[in-house]
Amino acid sequence: MIDYLFEKIEREQELNKEDLCRLLALENPQELETLYNMADKIRKKYVRDEVHLRGLIEFSNHCRNNCLYCGIRRDNTKLVRYRMDLDEIVDTAVLAQKLGYKTVVLQSGEDPCYTVDKLEYLIKSIKARADVAITLSIGERPREEYKRLYEAGADRFLMRFETSNRALYHKLHPDSSFDRRMESLKWLREIGYQVGSGTMVGLPGQTIADIAEDILKFKELDLDMVGVGPYICHNDTPLAGSANGDVEMTLKVIALTRIVTRDSHIPATTALATLRPADGREKALQCGANVVMPNTTPMKYRAHYALYPAKICINEKAEQCSACIHRRIFSIGRPVSRDYGHSLKRKISV
Ligand code: 5AD
Ligand code: FES
Repeated sequence: MIDYLFEKIEREQELNKEDLCRLLALENPQELETLYNMADKIRKKYVRDEVHLRGLIEFSNHCRNNCLYCGIRRDNTKLVRYRMDLDEIVDTAVLAQKLGYKTVVLQSGEDPCYTVDKLEYLIKSIKARADVAITLSIGERPREEYKRLYEAGADRFLMRFETSNRALYHKLHPDSSFDRRMESLKWLREIGYQVGSGTMVGLPGQTIADIAEDILKFKELDLDMVGVGPYICHNDTPLAGSANGDVEMTLKVIALTRIVTRDSHIPATTALATLRPADGREKALQCGANVVMPNTTPMKYRAHYALYPAKICINEKAEQCSACIHRRIFSIGRPVSRDYGHSLKRKISV
């Protein structure tokens, strides 16, 4: 049975939900190795060996939402809140470029304090001072705002749908609806952004069948980027005491996402590295991933951007993370990309 599925992958035939469920259930180490090797081969064929680095700037941990799993949710009063001012964000983007990153990812909670006027100024200032692609990860906004930010120079947008199980989505996100999230992703695509989305693996209440649906959804949405990380329990949330997502399951999802989506950009996520600091990112890069997002947030803020506990790199400076990431990538014989690492799915004019 499994050989039949491996053959299907080898021939690049489409996998259906049942196939994905079976593959997600694999536990035999030899079979897992076969799956990971196949994903690695497809990664090499479609996105080559280069690893793209995206400098992550976590510019505000204020959030108007109350997502049940998230450490920066509105009701977490234990968190020290911060906002970086615009010039400080621009300076950080310039530093990211000096470290060789060709993309900066501007990420925050859903923080209306950064009005569309301010964000426009921010994007234009970064583009004037640094030769980098800009990815936004700032959550849900009106269509008109997405459009203005794209016209100001933003290239890409990341917004995970977190789970394709509509009922689970609504349980976990009291302030947002599944349809609204899907509509926002559609707007972003229509406007012209390269669009990234993704999910967490091991959310309380999530099943294998849900995860198989997630992977089919990545394909259906024709995403340029797909980020998948394990759920990590934060004890200052309503999900306190729940189990963390499983590292091996996350690797299987990354491998199958590569096999199913072929040429999307897939990061080795920080959440995965947090549960497996020694070699989580290397493992992900060897079973389908081709992107790493080194933390570039100024040190004094890092510990406060606590989506989940024990996040790696909270005591490292941007320069140290850069050196660390380069070392890890070279250790597995992969080169670091020198270009922007735009989507391979559509023609991008810069
Ligand atoms: N564990 C793992 N990932 C998390 N995220 C938020 N909270 C957690 C958590 N507790 C992820 C979400 C979000 C991304 C920025 O971080 O998937 O989209
Ligand atoms: Fe920050 Fe390794 S990436 S120390």
